Amino acid sequence: MKDRLQALEQEAFTSIRSIGDVEELKALRVRYLGKKGELTEILRGMKDVAPDERPVIGSLANDIRARLEEGISSREEELQEQALEIRLRHEQIDVTLPGKPQALGGIHPISAVIEQIEDIFVGMGFEVAEGPEVELDSYNFESLNIPKDHPARDMQDSFYVTPEILLRTHTSPVQVRTMEKKEGQVPVKIICPGKVYRRDDDDATHSHQFHQVEGLVVDRGIAMSELHGILAAFAEKLFGMELETRLRPSYFPFTEPSVEMDISCVQCGGQGCRMCKETGWIEILGAGMVHPRVLEGAGYDSERYTGFAFGMGPDRIALLKYGIDDIRHFYTNDLRFLRQFQSV
Ligand code: PHE
Repeated sequence: MKDRLQALEQEAFTSIRSIGDVEELKALRVRYLGKKGELTEILRGMKDVAPDERPVIGSLANDIRARLEEGISSREEELQEQALEIRLRHEQIDVTLPGKPQALGGIHPISAVIEQIEDIFVGMGFEVAEGPEVELDSYNFESLNIPKDHPARDMQDSFYVTPEILLRTHTSPVQVRTMEKKEGQVPVKIICPGKVYRRDDDDATHSHQFHQVEGLVVDRGIAMSELHGILAAFAEKLFGMELETRLRPSYFPFTEPSVEMDISCVQCGGQGCRMCKETGWIEILGAGMVHPRVLEGAGYDSERYTGFAFGMGPDRIALLKYGIDDIRHFYTNDLRFLRQFQSV
């Protein structure tokens, strides 16, 4: 009996060592240690063993069972570790491989300029107001002191949807809409950025759709000096350099008096170059004191309040800032052009 037990142990251990699979190992456990297993089978012969030998055999059988249990579970651990290692080797990631490049977009140069303009004015206490691009003729023209037969309508030839509705030709209607909303309250201190449309033939300096940033300040005691001070400070911030500014008389139906503001040429500093057409000056915006008729029409008492307004073209400013010679580049969306501004 003792011999049979020892032989069984040896045989079992040989099998355990040669098994390479957890499932087979389970089957082996049943074969040797299960209820109908071989060890149990041998122990059934106990009744034939001499009584004084039984304890010795019994304890030997127990030891063998314990050793087999232990041998099987340590083999099981080994096999599981091996399997894990194989899996990890398969799933290994080579972190040194170059990644798939993600195509990064950039901000369009015109949007970048509009954002810069907004930041500067917001820093001076202005709010940003917006309005519809499809506008009523009455807001786009009439409330801005441009009646139906006014010659200034020629300067802003437009796209009409119906005789009374058009694509706005400037962002000035947003001024009137904002003043109406404020119902005579001051201060009004807004800028209105947005797209505008005119029936122009596209060329290097014209586009039928372009952008404007318009501004409006209305309060008690606003004078031409505030207009000049704020716009000169703005221009220096925008171009990041000290500049000379000058106001030239001009004409807009909705401001009186009206001016255009020039800055000393950002390229030559006023010496004269190709960019400023040898004049030393570059025009960057139109402005003026809000016409009393516009104030009254929007519900403001022009005896108590005055204001100034200004309007500029971010497209033109972007041309100047980045030294570009054709406005059409902004709208044809050639990636070779746009990629140059990725980090702007
Ligand atoms: N709206 C004018 C234009 O488009 C610009 C402007 C705005 C001029 C405000 C003066 C004051 O030409």
